[in-house]
Amino acid sequence: MSEREELLAGTPLPEDAAAEPGLRPARLDEFVGQAELKEHLHIILGAARARSQPADHLLFAGPPGLGKTTLAHIVAKEMDAGLHITSGPALERAGDLAAILSKLEDGDVLFIDEIHRLPRIVEEVMYPAMEDFNVDIVLGKGPAAQSVRLDLAKFTLVGATTRTGLITGPLRDRFGLVSRLDYYSAADLEAIVARAAGILDIRVDQAGAAEIAGRARGTPRIANRLLRRVRDYAEVRADGVIDHATAAAGLKVFGVDPAGLDKIDRAILSALCERFGGGPVGLSTLAISVSEPAETVEDVYEPFLIQQGLLMRTPRGRVATTTAWHHLGLAAPASAADQSNLFD
Ligand SMILES: Nc1ncnc2c1ncn2[C@@H]1O[C@H](COP(=O)(O)OP(=O)(O)OP(=O)(O)O)[C@@H](O)[C@H]1O
Ligand SMILES: [Mg+2]
Repeated sequence: MSEREELLAGTPLPEDAAAEPGLRPARLDEFVGQAELKEHLHIILGAARARSQPADHLLFAGPPGLGKTTLAHIVAKEMDAGLHITSGPALERAGDLAAILSKLEDGDVLFIDEIHRLPRIVEEVMYPAMEDFNVDIVLGKGPAAQSVRLDLAKFTLVGATTRTGLITGPLRDRFGLVSRLDYYSAADLEAIVARAAGILDIRVDQAGAAEIAGRARGTPRIANRLLRRVRDYAEVRADGVIDHATAAAGLKVFGVDPAGLDKIDRAILSALCERFGGGPVGLSTLAISVSEPAETVEDVYEPFLIQQGLLMRTPRGRVATTTAWHHLGLAAPASAADQSNLFD
């Protein structure tokens, strides 16, 4: 990937890994946006605390960089509980999971990132663990094999996934809350930029923060990354203070799309408009034409394009809106879907 593409990728870059721990909100009240989800968590965690019980199992779904890992840390902190972190692909055998589960203490939070990638045999060990707090482990092999039931501490499982569609029904049903994180509004991203600037001691005014927020693809991780790039620019080319002009000039130097679209977003729109006349076109055809798996297009890219009013899902397939044609610098055909009369 070129540098320009990387800047707008929601997935973490090495530099994010270094910067993020310090920027991560530690408490629910510091977590910007996602009002509905925060209210649900306030209620669930508050009630569990009042009963002195571990909270129900929680599943957070949504595109990369929206705050799923951050929420797992917050849940542990708010519950004053220990946090254990692992991921779906790291748990290859049933024994790997049993080993982690048996170390948990009452009230602990177990965070499993990329939970949609748990191997099926491991997932099946998870069911009784989540429901009845026990696991059956098989000792020995062949006719001498014995199944032993192990009682576990009462823990809270927090799962994160970028692919809701890949979570099996039985696993999903065992979570007390399944919550989908939405892309952040410009106002929320502006608050996130201002907050990060405060922590990193970067001077940015309101218009500067707004400019960065508007190009961050609805994603806090990208907002924080663009803030760091613009800070570099401001220190080298300006007086170190990020105002609107400095932010716009810095973002231009780094080739950030004014709408914050990344390369694949643009490839999807141009395939849709230029190859398929604006649609409707089926998801799998569209995905093949941009060489991405259909699930990635559906779960990672489309939600942002839909939120931006650039693409629509219809029963007959995906359709580009007039805004999409204009964004590509193309004249929209008369038949192009106009979001403004969608509800006529
Ligand atoms: N609501 C928020 N308020 C403030 N900062 C946030 C918020 N959500 C995320 N961030 C910032 O964005 C960074 C990335 O968030 P996080 O690592 O939680 O994303 P994620 O959803 O787990 O991504 P991935 O799918 O790649 O694991 C965090 O370190 C934090 O600085
Ligand atoms: Mg994460």
